[in-house]
Amino acid sequence: MTTKIILDTDPGIDDAMAILFAEANPNIELLALTTIFGNADIETGTRNALYLKERFNLQCDVVKGTDKPLYREPVGASVAVHSENGFGGIAIETPTITADPRPAFQYIIDTVKASPGDVTLVAVGPLTNLALAYNHAPEIAELIKEVVIMGGAFGTHEHTGNVTPFAEANIHDDPHSADIVFTAPWQVTIVGLDVTHEAFFSSDYIDTLRDTCGEVGQFMWDISRFYLNFYKERMGVNGCFVHDPSAIAYVIDPSLFTLRKGPVRVVCDGPAVGHTLQKYTDTKHKTDEWSDMPAQNVAIKVNDQALLDLYLDSMTSYGAE
Ligand code: BDR
Ligand code: CA
Repeated sequence: MTTKIILDTDPGIDDAMAILFAEANPNIELLALTTIFGNADIETGTRNALYLKERFNLQCDVVKGTDKPLYREPVGASVAVHSENGFGGIAIETPTITADPRPAFQYIIDTVKASPGDVTLVAVGPLTNLALAYNHAPEIAELIKEVVIMGGAFGTHEHTGNVTPFAEANIHDDPHSADIVFTAPWQVTIVGLDVTHEAFFSSDYIDTLRDTCGEVGQFMWDISRFYLNFYKERMGVNGCFVHDPSAIAYVIDPSLFTLRKGPVRVVCDGPAVGHTLQKYTDTKHKTDEWSDMPAQNVAIKVNDQALLDLYLDSMTSYGAE
């Protein structure tokens, strides 16, 4: 069965790897890329989404999202990780196509209402477009099939944060939106650092993508040079963790992941801003701002070898088309 998805994204190197994975795998129907600030500013990220659509003939819509978080001061683009142009500094031609005229939150509302029960929202950037969609039309909560997020860090396997000691980038960029999304009455599955830091694309693996996946493999290799250099200098590793493609892998094959259930909240200010916490026990407390919230899924374990095999198989078949 194919799953229809809207992919909310801040392209971004691992975002491009996730977008092409969603396009490649026959179990996903990619309806749209809705863009969000994050790895790059909104103009650059939207340009990159349009570039991918045009270059790889994606049939999805591209829709521009909001340029800033709901309340916090913007933290700025992740230039050190993804480069000034978001795609590792490779030459990107200006696309000749344009985005859908609607703002992303309105596109999400319209599309979900047109196909009730059918659409999964996958978000691999800050969650502002999703929070805006929910705030404008809370009735969409019961019309959405599932919300799948790459973001957050709950401390499993000691993975607590990447941009601060206790926050992951997508949640840190807009903690208020993340708290709205996690406490809304829809089913959210959170694929955070707990699992994305447990799956690794080695430099050799990315060489294999280049050698077996045609033009798309060469493109992923080209954009990931800058990214791998960041990982080498910052963490001393020869490759990169599998962030955004892991959210797509969950949609294709949820059995790759072990999930833990319980309500989730986000710290919205102070030194732990962006920290995500899940209450997963039944313990009663005098004061508890978790328990009345919907129980969400947090991924705490991944079959990383199977995930890597799935990614390579999908991209190799697609590259051969
Ligand atoms: C997340 O932050 C962004 O830099 C990546 O694209 C990914 O979505 C990882 O923390
Ligand atoms: Ca991203």
